[in-house]
Amino acid sequence: MKFFIDTANLDDIREANDLGILDGVTTNPSLMAKEGITGEQNILDHYMKICAIVDGPVSAEVISTDYEGIVREGEALASMHKNIVVKVPMILEGIKAIKHFSTKGIKTNCTLVFSAGQALLAAKAGATYISPFLGRLDDISFSGLDLIAQIKGVYNNYPFDTEILAASVRHPMHIIHCAEIGADVATCPLKAIKALANHPLTTSGLETFLADYAKGNN
Ligand code: G3P
Repeated sequence: MKFFIDTANLDDIREANDLGILDGVTTNPSLMAKEGITGEQNILDHYMKICAIVDGPVSAEVISTDYEGIVREGEALASMHKNIVVKVPMILEGIKAIKHFSTKGIKTNCTLVFSAGQALLAAKAGATYISPFLGRLDDISFSGLDLIAQIKGVYNNYPFDTEILAASVRHPMHIIHCAEIGADVATCPLKAIKALANHPLTTSGLETFLADYAKGNN
């Protein structure tokens, strides 16, 4: 499973990249605003900073909601850097735009996916990735992981190239369950990625090994 980081925070992106396990980055307008990145040019500059850190797909989201606007914005974003993936909302105008991008060889991430039907439409249009939002479904008492499994089952029936990019991941168990289901990618906050490394027996075992080494060297 590929690991993407879901943030616009450059320090977090650098830290995850330095671990050597990072495959890409996803952003959205809310994550940009959280970092105080506002205004079109500042946002575009920020994508370039992210692309300079990570050599992998970087999702950059369009703001337009009409076909022509999505195509115009997406083509401009894709022309900025070879690693930019155009993030398009799961609306019918977005589906039309994804089909257009797919015929032009522009990679897309269909975002705000909350049902298997939406995932099916996006795959038919040729989306490179679809982003089902796990945590936001859990927040309203629907199982985000059940949706990932359902989409995986649907995609397994057909030769779609679309990758399942589990998004709105909130904690390490989400990541582990996504890996069990066979999601292609999980995009996660840095905290959830780092939490995968933690185990109390690792901590106590290492303390014992170091203490025993120190005894033998006194
Ligand atoms: O990748 C989508 C993600 O940013 C949404 O996460 O935590 O706002 O639901 P969250």
